[in-house]
Amino acid sequence: MKTKKHGVGMWARTAVGLASLSAGLAVAAEAPAKPCLIAGWENPPSVCVAHTKSIAATCYICHGPNGKSLGAIPSLAGQDKAYLVAAMKEFKSGKRESTVMRKYAVGYTDTEYEELAEFFSAIK
Ligand code: HEC
Repeated sequence: MKTKKHGVGMWARTAVGLASLSAGLAVAAEAPAKPCLIAGWENPPSVCVAHTKSIAATCYICHGPNGKSLGAIPSLAGQDKAYLVAAMKEFKSGKRESTVMRKYAVGYTDTEYEELAEFFSAIK
């Protein structure tokens, strides 16, 4: 009896091991090439990437899918990272004139500008 229980336990541990291994692989496939700026124990890179992507998705309405413009509004994809961060800061401060961008820029932090810029600049 003892031996059988032990055997089941071993199998269960192996199954749990495999499940966490495949979960780990799924996360690894989604992980960014560079670590996230606001990552920490309470905010692992997978959460941070999801946060950046969810903000970025709100930009697609005007800047096109994945920031690749379909019209007159400039593309964000493949744009220089420092340029994108500077543009957001200038929209926020009002240094750069805008029709709508100030409203979007005020909603995010400098760290989020960095992450959005990192995200869009990496799109080819
Ligand atoms: C409602 C439409 C709209 C949305 C949504 C929007 N933008 Fe814009 N964006 C514009 C327009 C229009 C401009 C040109 C400047 C202006 O008139 O505001 C612009 C310009 C920019 C520029 C300057 C680009 C350049 O080449 O100089 C950046 C950077 C930018 N947007 C980033 C973003 C980011 C990041 C988001 C998402 C958080 C976003 N935008 C969401 C409409 C939008």
